[in-house]
Amino acid sequence: MKHFTIALVPGDGIGPEVIAEGVKVLKTIEELDSELSFSFTEFPWGCEYYLNQGKMMDDDGINQLRHFDAIYLGAVGYPGVPDHISLRDLLLRIRKSFDQYVNLRPVLLLHPSFTPLKDKAEKDIDMLVIRENSEGEYAGTGDWLYKGKPEEVVLQTGVFSRKGTERIIRYAYEEARRLNKTLTSISKGNALNYSMVFWDEVFEEVGKEYPDVTTYSYLVDAASLYFVSDPERFEVVVTSNLFGDIVTDIGAGITGGLGLATGANINPEKDYPSMFEPVHGSAPDIAGKGVANPIAAIWSVSQMLDFFGEETWGKVVLDTIKGLTVETENLTPDLGGKATTNEVGDRFAEKLKEKWVEKR
Ligand code: NAD
Ligand code: IPM
Ligand code: MN
Repeated sequence: MKHFTIALVPGDGIGPEVIAEGVKVLKTIEELDSELSFSFTEFPWGCEYYLNQGKMMDDDGINQLRHFDAIYLGAVGYPGVPDHISLRDLLLRIRKSFDQYVNLRPVLLLHPSFTPLKDKAEKDIDMLVIRENSEGEYAGTGDWLYKGKPEEVVLQTGVFSRKGTERIIRYAYEEARRLNKTLTSISKGNALNYSMVFWDEVFEEVGKEYPDVTTYSYLVDAASLYFVSDPERFEVVVTSNLFGDIVTDIGAGITGGLGLATGANINPEKDYPSMFEPVHGSAPDIAGKGVANPIAAIWSVSQMLDFFGEETWGKVVLDTIKGLTVETENLTPDLGGKATTNEVGDRFAEKLKEKWVEKR
């Protein structure tokens, strides 16, 4: 019997709504597979907590999370608390404290009807974006000088260390080699004359160890165009923290929206827990209505299972997502359907049972 401990941080807005459905999936797996069990510990951190306690998480919150096998997070940020406080003090703090330097964001078309692009089939949009997740433009250092004066100057420092840049690029080469796919680096050396020139150099240097991997290198502006005009170009993609944030929302846009986009924040050395979360935010515009799409959060469960070494289950969950979403009655309003969050979760659990029986 294998047992995994999971810290739940449902967070704000639609976060708790979609996490409930992901937990439903994990509990269904537990029912079906006598070899597997999970325990859940919920942490009430987020914007409401901040309004009551004056902080986004407990002072020793990072220590409280340290010994879990994984963290499952909904979304953070809500009107009423400045975004740079809520996000930096909770979500970004966890990514940074646990050195989750790899952000794995698949951009995969589940069904041709989900893309706004013309004439695209599943095989045309199938990439894995590997986003640097610990430094770069998110380093959080800078300065605010002469506040309110005419000579006011604001600096936001991008930090690209040799260690941080090499390790993410090496990780991406390894993934490309393992998957036998091409690797594309997205950068911006023509304007960012320190950080991105360095990035490009490291991409080339590390590449010498991977002569079997075919590489491409695009500027982020052109790459953003190609995501939309020509997504077939991309297989494995590696990019910096900020560019990765932006291009993966474009990736979501071409595959059905944020309701279908997942991301895993990985510490590959397993010195600390990794964190699994949908790419989307707290969606204040639909929060509390019961219509949030839980598929992104359920897809995060698939990534978590892969990370646990339970790849069979990871695949069953992903296959179930594919099977479920071909039927319009299983879709939430963002995908043109009428189903509620809870209904999608319930149907998912039923289909998962069927898939599991089929597999055995
Ligand atoms: P958002 O992702 O919350 O919403 C963008 C749009 O996508 C909205 O129209 C929303 O309704 C829709 N959407 C998002 N998830 C959906 C789902 N599961 N089902 C259906 N529709 C969905 O982004 P935003 O509005 O820019 O940000 C809202 C708040 O969330 C901000 O405070 C922001 O900082 C925060 N945020 C947090 C995370 C995170 O915690 N990982 C990610 C992004 C944004
Ligand atoms: C994401 C989010 C976060 C990021 C924000 C909320 C800090 O947009 O996970 O994509 O920029 O990484
Ligand atoms: Mn984002």
